[in-house]
Amino acid sequence: FRFEKPKNEPVLSYAPNSPERLELVAELERMSSQQIDIPLIIGGKEIRTGNLGKVVMPHDHGHVLATYHMAGEKEVRMAIEAAVEARKKWENIPWVERASIAIRVAELIAKKYRAVMNAATMLGQSKNAFQAEIDSACETIDFLRFNAYYMSQIYADQPMSPTTDVVNRMEYRPLEGFVFAVTPFNFTAIASNLCMSPVIMGNAVVWKPATTAILSNYYLMQIYKEAGLPDGIINFIPGKGSVIGKEIFAHREFAGVHFTGSTWTFNSFWSEIARNLPNYRSYPKIVGETGGKDFVMVHPSADVQQVAVALVRGAFEFQGQKCSAASRAYIPKSMWYAVKDSMGKMLTDIKVGDVRNFSNFVNAVIDEAAFDSITGYIEKARNTKDAEIVFGGTYDKSKGYFIQPTVILANDPHFVTMEEEIFGPVLTIHVYEDAKFEETLELVDSTSPYALTGSIFSNDRYATEVAFEKLKYAAGNFYINDKPTGAVVGQQPFGGARASGTNDKAGSYLNLIRWTNPRSIKE
Ligand code: ALA
Repeated sequence: FRFEKPKNEPVLSYAPNSPERLELVAELERMSSQQIDIPLIIGGKEIRTGNLGKVVMPHDHGHVLATYHMAGEKEVRMAIEAAVEARKKWENIPWVERASIAIRVAELIAKKYRAVMNAATMLGQSKNAFQAEIDSACETIDFLRFNAYYMSQIYADQPMSPTTDVVNRMEYRPLEGFVFAVTPFNFTAIASNLCMSPVIMGNAVVWKPATTAILSNYYLMQIYKEAGLPDGIINFIPGKGSVIGKEIFAHREFAGVHFTGSTWTFNSFWSEIARNLPNYRSYPKIVGETGGKDFVMVHPSADVQQVAVALVRGAFEFQGQKCSAASRAYIPKSMWYAVKDSMGKMLTDIKVGDVRNFSNFVNAVIDEAAFDSITGYIEKARNTKDAEIVFGGTYDKSKGYFIQPTVILANDPHFVTMEEEIFGPVLTIHVYEDAKFEETLELVDSTSPYALTGSIFSNDRYATEVAFEKLKYAAGNFYINDKPTGAVVGQQPFGGARASGTNDKAGSYLNLIRWTNPRSIKE
């Protein structure tokens, strides 16, 4: 038995006076005018520790949207116990029923809570309406529906019996223990997927959401409950990573971690897990998607306008706060002035500001730490002879954490902003001699430790093939004549290797299979 392959959820337009726009504006007003109190949710129960954090709007940081309670060691242990207990029943529920709950969550977001999810993502994570729609509505829904389809492929896949008197089968048991989900602020869809992928495969999760995405993530918890997810299958425990991680990684029942975030944090997980290895029942599954320093490589045969659009959209949509964001580009000398001119025209039209004004394309970066780190890189470019700021370079954090889309031209291809992940609206360009296309491909491959996404722009098939081969391991998602962002669930499974993660492709059976512990049975 297999599910039908679903279709992607259509992206609504939010045109002025459209029903979705009116509903969203009303929801934005409602959410902006209240201040809710967000508890931990452990075993279905709301827990208030009194150790409070604040949810503010990054584009208006004096405005508190919510307070949230942080977990201490005791609550982490309670969450683990709740997950271990709840899993006992959950793993015996037929997989079709588990899939049905995921599909029900998708339906609730699509038809009932779309405006709630989008408003919470806009206000709490500073995304414009169109970005929120793509993330907290469409991609979240797609992950749920497509993963239900992929899980049906896994459960349907049975070894063949070689003779008529032997029956072989595979039982896809969940992991023995609980799964720890550590989720990022930049995509509500990723937060949902990192919990729900292990869950549909029969596991129970202890979830540490990013403290900068608590609002949308809390609404997700409520939708899971309404869809019929039993108590204790996902336990929501915001708090400090150091406090939570220490308890989790020391626990005998720790069976796996599903992570998206920084390379540094992921590396620290591996070390903690290695230290605790003798305590565990099984080798834990370690699945993570980390950083990127994603490239755009341009061949002289490429189309100027196509390249300029890809750079502007790839680098500045979502404020560049995407692991996939275009952050270093290599442009042939013969094209540079035309590309620059075209980008300049587009950049003058881009407005930066509050998400509640729908004409603002770029909004705030997530918090003060991000703002300080990103603007630190801009200052390095301003204060060196190795680079110059071509566009943008200004910023202001007095009301919101706003940074003007910034383009740096680096004479030195190893200038720091060509090499390090910045995670903000900053693109660095290196202009190369047209005749040095192949040498530049080697530079693209060797400059960064990451290998997440990358693009080649070329209208010369031979050059495209050379890039395809020379950059074979430089990206897990490779684009030909398109920006390196915007992978669509069900179309381009997502993930990279090297310092970018374990490449267990989100949105595919390859990820789901990691949450299984298969048993081969011969009768
Ligand atoms: N999956 C997201 C993208 O492809 C991060 O841009």
